[in-house]
Amino acid sequence: MQPTQISKGIYDVGVQDWNIRDFHGYSTPTGTTYNAFLIVDEKIALIDTVKKDFSDQLIKNISAIIPPEKIDYVISNHTEMDHTGSLPVIMNCIGEHKPLYCSKMGKKNLALHYRNKWNYHAVENGEELNLGKHQLTFLEARMLHWPDSMLTYEKSEKILFSSDAFGQHYAGYDKFDDQVDLDELLHHSKKYFANIILLFAGQVKKLLKTVNDMGLTINMICPDHGMIWRKNPGVIIDAYDKWSDQATIKKAVLVYDTMWQSTEKMAEQISAGIASEGVSVRPMSLRTNHRSDIMTELMDAKALVVGSPTLNNNVYPTISDFLTYMKGLRPQNKLAACFGSYGWNGASIKILNNEMKSMNFQMIDESGLKIHYVPDEDGLKKCYEYGQSIGKAICQS
Ligand code: FEO
Repeated sequence: MQPTQISKGIYDVGVQDWNIRDFHGYSTPTGTTYNAFLIVDEKIALIDTVKKDFSDQLIKNISAIIPPEKIDYVISNHTEMDHTGSLPVIMNCIGEHKPLYCSKMGKKNLALHYRNKWNYHAVENGEELNLGKHQLTFLEARMLHWPDSMLTYEKSEKILFSSDAFGQHYAGYDKFDDQVDLDELLHHSKKYFANIILLFAGQVKKLLKTVNDMGLTINMICPDHGMIWRKNPGVIIDAYDKWSDQATIKKAVLVYDTMWQSTEKMAEQISAGIASEGVSVRPMSLRTNHRSDIMTELMDAKALVVGSPTLNNNVYPTISDFLTYMKGLRPQNKLAACFGSYGWNGASIKILNNEMKSMNFQMIDESGLKIHYVPDEDGLKKCYEYGQSIGKAICQS
């Protein structure tokens, strides 16, 4: 795809990765993009690069605007390899003596990744770089989402090059927020937040405060993934502010897997019981829902209800997978309850309880609900009533 001019003298020279379907555990059904930005002025700067596999396309995109060797500065906002994998090719092409701007941690982390003696320039927070008409300011954004993360603000056009923040794993021929459906874009943004940014919600608040304290006007946000926020930068800033509060609504997400449909029957009745109390409920079988879509649904839910049959004195493997993934993201402010069927040992409930408590979920009921083998009429009624008690607890919290 050809580079896109996003503003006077500023181009997106990034690439689409149409075929990626798993981004370290996160499902990417439309693929993603690795955005990189070229600023052509008296001095020429490249902000970020792309995944290694696409370095030829990056060079081609830059070459459509200027000969790549004319680049004076490379700016690396973040070390993760989807944005630096092409640095060796770029530095080799433009000359390894050219300054490579990054944060102090970026300098350390780039050296650990590429074992190269590039001409690093580790910036101070707030340091500026003058390109001519365009002046860049570097803003430290430690742990948003790596220790090396920083953002670059361009003063004349008021553009924030935001690295991973405000992005989406969303590939398309369009490049701007006003060219796609806003609800769909916000859904992808929410999924990205739920699966990448959630753990760093505190750092989001800090960044928004810094932007506010510095009085920075933002006309456009250029993330390193997905669409550029040209028309609605305020929409995604407000969404990040709201999402980082981790506020919840009257909603339950019910996650489960099943061996012989007993736990599934329980899930159906528990869901119905929760709904009967006027609470939105989203049953999500791990057979048909990806862990990253569950995290997206869970973001504003007041309660998580987890169901697992007992298998070999343990929980079902898909449940372990989900709990491990969720634990890393540390969702806050949630109630929880557990259930499951069993044969000769109902160990899954105790394991689920302990797991949820270790993640600071507030248990609605520590004993959970277990059913021996296949639920009969009475068992199904107990499940419905258990759902009602969960619904009531949500309404009272
Ligand atoms: Fe898109 Fe943290 O890399």
